[in-house]
Amino acid sequence: MTEQEYYTFIQPYEDAKEVLLARLHVLEHNLYEVAEGQPIHNIQSRIKEKKSIEDKLRKKDKDPTVMNAKDYLQDIAGVRVICYFADDIYNLVEVLKRQVDLIVLRECDYVRRPKANGYRSYHVVVGVPVYCLDGMEYFPVEIQIRTLSMDFWASMEHRILYKKQEGRGAKRLTEELREYADTLVEMEERLFHAIKPS
Ligand code: GTP
Ligand code: MG
Repeated sequence: MTEQEYYTFIQPYEDAKEVLLARLHVLEHNLYEVAEGQPIHNIQSRIKEKKSIEDKLRKKDKDPTVMNAKDYLQDIAGVRVICYFADDIYNLVEVLKRQVDLIVLRECDYVRRPKANGYRSYHVVVGVPVYCLDGMEYFPVEIQIRTLSMDFWASMEHRILYKKQEGRGAKRLTEELREYADTLVEMEERLFHAIKPS
């Protein structure tokens, strides 16, 4: 794809991402009462870069065209919500699903069912309605919802193991990260009970 094709292609995804961010900020205010305190630490977002789109399509054995990007990638637009506690994640998912004009395209709960390496996060791909001159179309936005401790772990794992898959010491580091994942869960649960005595 050319630079021009890329910029035209991502425009509605950028719009979908902005619509979703606005929704999330409103929900954040509403959730303040449910969570009896601040539920969200911060929200990040990004649009996948041209090179990342092309690399990912090649990995899927598809030609790196905008048509294929539209058909095969659901994470062109991405939003990451960092909460404090696991409860905040589920509260957010619940209120998000109550937004009747958003459609859930894909959902994966790596919080209750973490990946074998220890990765935890709640992933949900939503279709966001974008209105243009000739009507409405849903565009997918991948939302990753995680706690601060899950984000710490994922960021470290990405930093440490990325490009180190085959390298020496990678196996030991993988085991170590697996252990830290459990330690972080325990730490987070203790802090949760410290502020919410049953
Ligand atoms: P992708 O091809 O990466 O999109 O994988 P997928 O389609 O199977 O989706 P999945 O929901 O498993 O992961 C999507 C995104 O979640 C990734 O692009 C990462 O941002 C994040 N992620 C998933 N697994 C891991 C992991 O083991 N470590 C880290 N650091 N991030 C992960
Ligand atoms: Mg994905």
